[in-house]
Amino acid sequence: MEIYEILHKDHEKIKLLLNDLINLDEDPEKKHVLIAQVRDELIPHSRAEETVFYNSLREMDQAKDIIMHSYKEHIKAEALLKTLQAKEKIDLDWKSTAKKLKEALEHHIQEEEEKIFSVAKLLFTDEEATQFAAAFEKMKPEIRKENFLGTTIDLIRNLMPPRFTSSLKKSDSPQPPSNP
Ligand SMILES: [Fe+2]
Ligand SMILES: [Fe+2]
Repeated sequence: MEIYEILHKDHEKIKLLLNDLINLDEDPEKKHVLIAQVRDELIPHSRAEETVFYNSLREMDQAKDIIMHSYKEHIKAEALLKTLQAKEKIDLDWKSTAKKLKEALEHHIQEEEEKIFSVAKLLFTDEEATQFAAAFEKMKPEIRKENFLGTTIDLIRNLMPPRFTSSLKKSDSPQPPSNP
């Protein structure tokens, strides 16, 4: 299986969860579970996607701008998720934030699947796309176990130019396949 198919499956799962969330009637327990599920799907997906996929693409001129744009959308979505978690705790108007998160992610996913996948398919071989998939699948469960601080450090690490990241790299982190 290639990376595109794996990422697409995750995207569909995240979209379904957000749909369930915004259609939820007042049910605090279910709301809490759904928000936790969104977190557990979104954060490992985004971190592994950045590490394996984005970081291999952003070195290439054809992909640099769209990848940096996509990183910003990851940050925006995570800020909305944090706001949603905070509002859920104090029972403020959480639904407007859930809707914003859904819209932001639907936009991001559409752009990712249309623009980034198209560029990647031109730049990577099928074999590389399969290697990315394996690295992504290996990395995701590890990220799921990390706390907020850990995933935030990973985000910063992914955003920094590669030459600055070596000192922050965890020795046990699975590494993405190298660039061609
Ligand atoms: Fe994605
Ligand atoms: Fe993404």
